[in-house]
Amino acid sequence: MENKKRIYEELITEIQSVLAGENDPIAWMSTLSCLIRNKTGHFWVGFYRVRGKELVIGPYQGTLGCLHIPFGKGVCGTCAEQRRTLVVPDVHQFPGHIACDSRSNSEIVVPVFDGRGRLKAVLDMDSTSLAVFDETDRTYLEIIAGFMAGLEWEIKV
Ligand code: SME
Repeated sequence: MENKKRIYEELITEIQSVLAGENDPIAWMSTLSCLIRNKTGHFWVGFYRVRGKELVIGPYQGTLGCLHIPFGKGVCGTCAEQRRTLVVPDVHQFPGHIACDSRSNSEIVVPVFDGRGRLKAVLDMDSTSLAVFDETDRTYLEIIAGFMAGLEWEIKV
């Protein structure tokens, strides 16, 4: 557990150093996917962006992700609908879980809001092991998602 905290503390230092002064959401999502995946070694790390009442795949690192997820479907869509972090120890027990890759066994999904509290994206992290994610992951990933509140979310790509 202490080791996990140390990894996240180092990760936050890296994020602050690499992304200081950067306002572009795609630059943030791409760079975070890379830094988090390389630091934690988890199977899949990435973002889905909010488009109306569905999520559309954003920058990620890992195997092929599903392209579109409606609000309310799977872990990501439920996180988006409920606007709260979901920690799922066994995705196969989660009603409506979307299996983009059958090797994924546990998952955490964290909402990303802008400065006015509007949901802009979700950060999804998957592991091939069961029950990998806990309150430490939730705490640190919510801090990291909070760094993104001030970005220029209206930038067109
Ligand atoms: N398992 C997710 C779908 C996204 S992927 O894991 C990349 C879900 O149920 O929302």
